[in-house]
Parts: sequence; C-alpha cells; structure tokens
Amino acid sequence: MKKILITGGAGFIGSHVVRQFVLNYPNDHIYNLDALTYAGNLANLSDVEALPNYTFVKADITDETLINNLFEKYRFDAVLHLAAESHVDRSISDPFSFVKTNVLGTVILLQAFKNIWMGNWEGKRFYHISTDEVYGSLGETGFFTETTPYAPNSPYSASKASSDHFVRAYGETYGMPYVISNCSNNYGPNHFPEKLIPLCIHNILNNQALPIYGDGKFIRDWLYVIDHAKAIDLVFHQGKNSETYNIGGFNEWTNIDLVKLLCQLMDQKLGKTIGTSESLITYVTDRPGHDLRYAIDARKINTELGWKPSVTFEQGLVKTINWFMDNQNWLENVTSGAYQQYYKEQYNLIKK
Ligand code: NAD
Ligand code: TYD
Repeated sequence: MKKILITGGAGFIGSHVVRQFVLNYPNDHIYNLDALTYAGNLANLSDVEALPNYTFVKADITDETLINNLFEKYRFDAVLHLAAESHVDRSISDPFSFVKTNVLGTVILLQAFKNIWMGNWEGKRFYHISTDEVYGSLGETGFFTETTPYAPNSPYSASKASSDHFVRAYGETYGMPYVISNCSNNYGPNHFPEKLIPLCIHNILNNQALPIYGDGKFIRDWLYVIDHAKAIDLVFHQGKNSETYNIGGFNEWTNIDLVKLLCQLMDQKLGKTIGTSESLITYVTDRPGHDLRYAIDARKINTELGWKPSVTFEQGLVKTINWFMDNQNWLENVTSGAYQQYYKEQYNLIKK
C-alpha cells in the first residue's frame, strides 16, 4: 500500500486526478492536500470523499512548518503536485501570489520530500504537473516537443517554468526520482468559470456578453480533463524517471471558432434559434503579452506509454455543456461572492 499525496486535489484537474486514483487504486491511500483558495472546492469530490482510501488535508503549500510536519507524520511515498495559481489574467494583476504558490510552494514540497527520503529513494517519486505555456508562443506552424526551449511570456507561465526547473534541479542535485508532464489547455466538468470555456457557458446561461480578447484568432490546443487525468495516471505508473511527457490532443482551435461552436451547441441544447448565443460575442481589449498559439506534439506519450485521447472535441464539449447544465448549483455557488468582484475588475479593465 502506497501513501500518495495529491496537491491541489480540490481544483479543476486535481479533483479528476484524485477520483481517478481513489477509484482505480483501492490499495493505495490518497491524501488530497489543498488550501481551498477561490479555485478549490470540496464539492468537486463529494462522490469519493467517504471512501476509506481517501483523506483530505487542508493546508497551504507555502506554510513550510506545516508541510514539513505533514510529511514527517504521513511519510508519503509519492507526490503528484498540481496545487498552483493557474489563471494567466490573475497573474498579470497579481504576479507575487504566483511566485509564492507556484515557485516557493513547489520548493517547500520538494524540500519536505527530500527531508524524509534523501538517500532512500527506492520506490519514491515526485510527479510535477505543468503546462505547455512554459514553452512560450508558437507562430503559425510547428509544435511544442519535450525538447523545445522554455520561453515563458506571462507571470503564470514564468512561475510554472521556474517550478519545473526546481524539480529538475532536485533530481540532478539530490537524486530525487521525478517526472514532469506539460499539458495543453484542459476543459470539462468542474472547470472554474474564469477560463474561456466555462466562462462562456456561464455567460450564455445568464445572457451576458462573451468577451473575446483581441481579434479572437489566438489558438489553443484543447484536451478533455478526464483524458488528462488518465494520462497522469499512466505517466505516474509507467513514465520514466527524469523524463518529461507532453500531453495534448492535436486539437487546435482559434478562440473565435471555438466560441462559435460552443454557441451553436448551447443553442441546440437550450432549444434556442441558432445564432442567439453568438449574438452575445463581444470583442474586448487584448490580454497583454497574449501568446498567439499553443500546440503540443504528443507523440512521445503516445508511442512510449500508449496514451491517446478518448473523446473528440465535439463529444467532450457536449459532455461539458451537459455537466454544467446539470450542475447549475455548482456554477451559482462558485460565481457568488468574490467572483463578482473579480469579474467586475477584470472585464471593466479590458472593455473596448
Ligand atoms: P485550479 O486553479 O482549478 O486549481 C488549483 C488548486 O490548487 C485549487 O484547488 C486551489 O485551492 C489549490 N491551491 C492553490 N494555491 C494553493 C496553496 N498555496 N496551497 C495549497 N493548495 C493551493 O487549477 P487547474 O486548472 O486544476 O490546474 C492544476 C494544475 O495543472 C496546475 O499546476 C496548472 O498549472 C496545471 N495545468 C493546468 C492546465 C489547465 O488547462 N487548467 C493545463 C496544463 C497544466
Ligand atoms: P484561458 O482559458 O484563460 O486559458 P490560457 O490563457 O491559459 O490559454 O484562455 C484561453 C484563450 O481564450 C486565450 O487565448 C485567452 C482567451 N480568452 C478570451 O478571449 N476571453 C476571455 O474572457 C478569456 C478568459 C480568455
């Protein structure tokens, strides 16, 4: 029986990873450590919280004393590290909290892991979950491979790049067994409505403007979150130490085409005349330093570990829309309170 620590398990991707591990590895014990920031929500895990191989620990990864005490108490065999500040727009207005959580928090976890296992690394693993945004922006052609040089452009991606480097450095310096994966944009159930897809679903449901930054021609490579969780499971159990795996679905969309598709699917679902939701599209001032294009070359994880996405984008979007429609209480809960203030400040600032 292994003790597996998952950080950020109450967030969007983390909650799917926790579910994947709790349900599929009943002989391992899964500890979900999360500070429950605005992005963390235990309701994401209500279906697994009573299972005997699951424990929630409320803790902030930047609290060094607490983290060291927890590692000494539980002696985790492995860490899957997802806790992070994750929204680019927030990193532009508040870079320090990204440095604190994403850089300092990661180093505190690495150090705590090293403190309990240094010299006794057999069977141990630190798995750092990162993003394709560390590679910067592509032009109209080409893909990010595992050897693409890092060139982060936003405070978010710079903080993730820095944390990736620290993980590698702990491997080189202290012999810590580690693996890193860099994934493209995720979407799916439990996605916090500050990000493009859930924000548009929320706004369509509430008949509000759909803000498109700049000319809407920016390209992202979208992956259904449950396919990411399955890839993480595979990398954790079968990936090689000191390796990086890029994860993506070869699924590039311009923001404007994506939002138009979403509008069509939502109109069908809501029984509205096609074109109703599209009329909510509103072009707004661009994000500063906006990366033009992300696209992952996912051939390594495909050929070495046999992973590939299980759903097409249309299937995933329909599943996502259905989930949000069936869970409107969830959406209302996360958008009441502090979200209102965030939304006002973010979208007042950028109105054209
Ligand atoms: P999220 O913002 O939905 O969730 C982050 C979670 O971390 C929340 O539960 C939050 O409470 C917790 N957290 C934040 N600060 C913390 C702290 N100081 N201590 C403990 N917990 C803290 O993020 P997400 O979209 O689920 O992303 C998870 C990870 O995956 C991140 O590391 C992110 O960089 C990476 N990633 C995300 C995407 C994406 O498209 N969302 C793509 C690739 C990689
Ligand atoms: P986002 O979901 O924030 O993810 P990321 O910036 O990490 O890729 O944004 C996805 C794309 O959508 C990105 O090009 C920015 C754009 N975008 C908008 O056009 N309008 C919005 O309101 C948001 C949140 C994002």
